[in-house]
Amino acid sequence: MTRRREFLRNTLLATGAAACSRVLPLAAAEDSSADSRFEILLDEPLGIISPNIYGHFSEHLGGVIYDGIWVGEKSAIPNVKGIRKRLVEEMRKIQAPVVRYPGGCFADSYNWRDGVGPSSQRPKRTNFWMDAEPKNAPAAHKYESNQFGTGEFMQFCRLIGCQPYLAANLRSLTPEDFYRWVEYCNSPAGSTTLAEMRAATGSSEPYGVRFWGVGNESWGCGGNFTPQEYAVEFRRFATWVPRYGQELSLIASGPDSGEWSWTRGFFEELLRKGKEQLNSVYGLSLHHYAANLGRGKASGWEESKGDALHFDPVDWYELLREGQRMETLIENHWRILGETDSANRVKLIVDEWGPWYRAGSEATPGDLFEQTPTLRDAVFSAMNLDIFNRHPEKVAMANCAQLINCLNSLYLAHEDHFCVTPVGHVFAMYAAHQGGQSLRTVISAPAVHYDRDAQPATFWGLQGSASLRGKQLVVTAVNPHVSEPRETFFSIRGASIATAALTTLTSADIHAHNSFAQPAALEPHTHALDAKGRGFTTILPPASVTRFDLGLS
Ligand code: AHR
Repeated sequence: MTRRREFLRNTLLATGAAACSRVLPLAAAEDSSADSRFEILLDEPLGIISPNIYGHFSEHLGGVIYDGIWVGEKSAIPNVKGIRKRLVEEMRKIQAPVVRYPGGCFADSYNWRDGVGPSSQRPKRTNFWMDAEPKNAPAAHKYESNQFGTGEFMQFCRLIGCQPYLAANLRSLTPEDFYRWVEYCNSPAGSTTLAEMRAATGSSEPYGVRFWGVGNESWGCGGNFTPQEYAVEFRRFATWVPRYGQELSLIASGPDSGEWSWTRGFFEELLRKGKEQLNSVYGLSLHHYAANLGRGKASGWEESKGDALHFDPVDWYELLREGQRMETLIENHWRILGETDSANRVKLIVDEWGPWYRAGSEATPGDLFEQTPTLRDAVFSAMNLDIFNRHPEKVAMANCAQLINCLNSLYLAHEDHFCVTPVGHVFAMYAAHQGGQSLRTVISAPAVHYDRDAQPATFWGLQGSASLRGKQLVVTAVNPHVSEPRETFFSIRGASIATAALTTLTSADIHAHNSFAQPAALEPHTHALDAKGRGFTTILPPASVTRFDLGLS
């Protein structure tokens, strides 16, 4: 390390790992002393970033619906028709574009009819997750009261101003049940008995649901199908679904991470009935959870999981490395899609992604799969969103798993307690990319080197993405190094910077997180940036996520 970098590093660490990036007093367009470069190529557009890659996922699982979203109309907790008001307010702030519901695995055991009609007459059922629930889970998580159903979910979406994405039950219901759910949601006012039922519970106008998942994880909890068997089922479910003038985008249940044979097998079988079968598929779902912190010594789903709050720098890099696989997964599944869909018309829908830790960090004991997100998960999430931004032609939607009180939550809530997690802050920071033109970036930085139990390991030293809307350029950058700042020269090819600001999320403590007792322990900070002309040099603090808002002239 040069003395200059050593000085910068020590200064930053001495000041508490720098709560913000600092701009060096050099405006020369071709500064070469910085050890890293981030070039934004304005004349190399990659495609429009679909706002839907900033989507969410809410399942009838643990504390997601009951306690997280739904508090009930009679609750003393501020609510809008039973829906937690604070959550709606936060989701409006991040411009949440789409929410997937009701699962997940739950979807393939769910009969939508149980969740419609007068709430006092709705049946109580056993929740899909009952056997997995911890001993101290509340009864409401084991036995489904159906107080939150289709109408309540639509109300939630309307309050947020987002689109619904419904997952249909392919394992335990018939195609007819699927068509009736579509009819219930989309048939015109007064047209059918189901439209009248919808009107009786508050909405004579159709909900206009465009996105429909045809099953979920059909290779596992969704029926244990082979890709060929599932393709046959998909054809049956997707044939002649009633439209009611509403565009329908059907999403086929896709692979688990790197199961290339699922993608290939599904499309080969689907197209045995002819190429036109491709017209029935809008997207193929892809699920990838980063769970393995076994460092090569454990690989089983349970024993390789790590702890959400207690981890060392090696765990930090190992989790990021697991998450970084997302880029290869997207590229490879896309290439396989191209084998049968040469025009690459079918898009990837990454409708479950995030880290998955072992139990133990729940903000509310008894909440299944609840974990407390830290700065590590913020960096992980920013890294994933940057990956999606860099592949706008391939990824049409992504849904972080899950919205609240489960896995990579943006929010934690229990009774009248609520907090925004570091992941929620990243979604707020990155919302500015939605609908922007993604631009090619060229990034070079020294790699991170670490010791993986006496084996040398490396991880990239800087990544990010850029998007342009009119004259407003948004650049996001992740420095994954747990202790070294990254002095970086940002160069804008083809325009001049007129105004600049930066927002940074970081902490001297890589375990930093928010809690009900300390909801603002980790928050982003915004500062003016003294940058003009074709480029600027700044220091990205260790373990940080930074957004630059650059007005161009
Ligand atoms: O998100 C939790 C579960 O993970 C979902 O229900 C399922 O689809 C996946 O295996």
